Amino acid sequence: MKKYVVTCDYNLEDLVIEEIRQKITEATEIQQFENFSHRVSFIVPNSDKETNHFILQKILSLRSIHSVVELKGTFYLENTTLENLKAKVMEIDLPELKTAKSFRASAERYGTHDFTSIEMAKHIGHTIILRYQIPVSLTEYEYNVRVDVIGNFVFVGYQITDDTLAHRKGVGQGKYNKIERSFHHRAATKHTLAYHLLTLAGLKEGDSLLDCTCGGGTIVLEAASMFGDKIKILAGDMHEKAIEGTKENLKLNNFDFVETTELNARHLNETIQDYVLKNGEIDKIVCNLPFGIQSGKQVNMRGLYDQFLSSAAKILSKNGKIVVLTMRQGVFREVIFMIKKYKITKEYVTEAGGLYLHIFVIEKI
Ligand SMILES: C[S@@+](CC[C@H](N)C(=O)[O-])C[C@H]1O[C@@H](n2cnc3c(N)ncnc32)[C@H](O)[C@@H]1O
Repeated sequence: MKKYVVTCDYNLEDLVIEEIRQKITEATEIQQFENFSHRVSFIVPNSDKETNHFILQKILSLRSIHSVVELKGTFYLENTTLENLKAKVMEIDLPELKTAKSFRASAERYGTHDFTSIEMAKHIGHTIILRYQIPVSLTEYEYNVRVDVIGNFVFVGYQITDDTLAHRKGVGQGKYNKIERSFHHRAATKHTLAYHLLTLAGLKEGDSLLDCTCGGGTIVLEAASMFGDKIKILAGDMHEKAIEGTKENLKLNNFDFVETTELNARHLNETIQDYVLKNGEIDKIVCNLPFGIQSGKQVNMRGLYDQFLSSAAKILSKNGKIVVLTMRQGVFREVIFMIKKYKITKEYVTEAGGLYLHIFVIEKI
């Protein structure tokens, strides 16, 4: 058996478990790793090289995860000194290192300790050199030995991903789900969150999708990468710079089937009336609403939410869904109840850039 630990967005571990269940049919014991947030673990059979490689490619293709570690061992530290940590790490069998050409050690620490993450990596690296007699290479390594200390809990494994898969940069092992971008919006949504929003909307082939606050286009890029032209996609924003940036990003990926337009999310029925007359009502609206904090100006979020939800109801199809990411959950909830056109079907709280964000899944009634 091989055990993997994947990292993910805060509090969305259940959604990651669901993606693993659907896409990695070989996986069992899929669960939040040791009850820690941000982490999910599962086991898969250890088979021949080819099958192991095939399963790993599926893991690296998951859209909801940031990084992947193949777990080699866990333990609790009785006293959290570097000496004790080194000694316990060396008790863990890392048989692959016996024949490895090179390695590097990396470490992360959460909580209060007498040592830093850099000191941990340095000391563990040194101990591995002595024990396995293999050289370190920070760039050309065959194995990246990863040690995480969370309070007094420690896990040791091989880090599989170099860069976070959430960037969709497609480097190294994370070559899957690659999305090119030349324009980066300053309040861009994480691709992993964009994936969750789209999945929670229940997007399926044949649907039409609107992101009416598209910024740099993360949500529509993710949707286009997931469904290709099997869904009809419209991206809009009130700022020309955002639309031009989204167009550039779409072009780089040859997503020429995605349409873009200047619109106002406060007046959707008016500003995309022609599109709706031509293409029919919208099935799913998925967007990251403006936070109303970056501009320095006071934005009346209640007014924005009220106008957005009221005008959206006029262009949404029967049982159409809206999935939004917002910081102002209290006001958003009140507006939903006030305008009496939607029911809330699901809610999640997550975190991005140090901000707690709320995901609402609402359905037109
Ligand atoms: C949080 S950003 C969206 C980020 C985007 N999802 C991305 O990943 O790049 C919010 C966007 O809403 C746009 N916006 C603000 N008010 C709007 C309105 N009334 N109508 C349409 N777009 C609006 C802003 O121009 C900004 O691009």
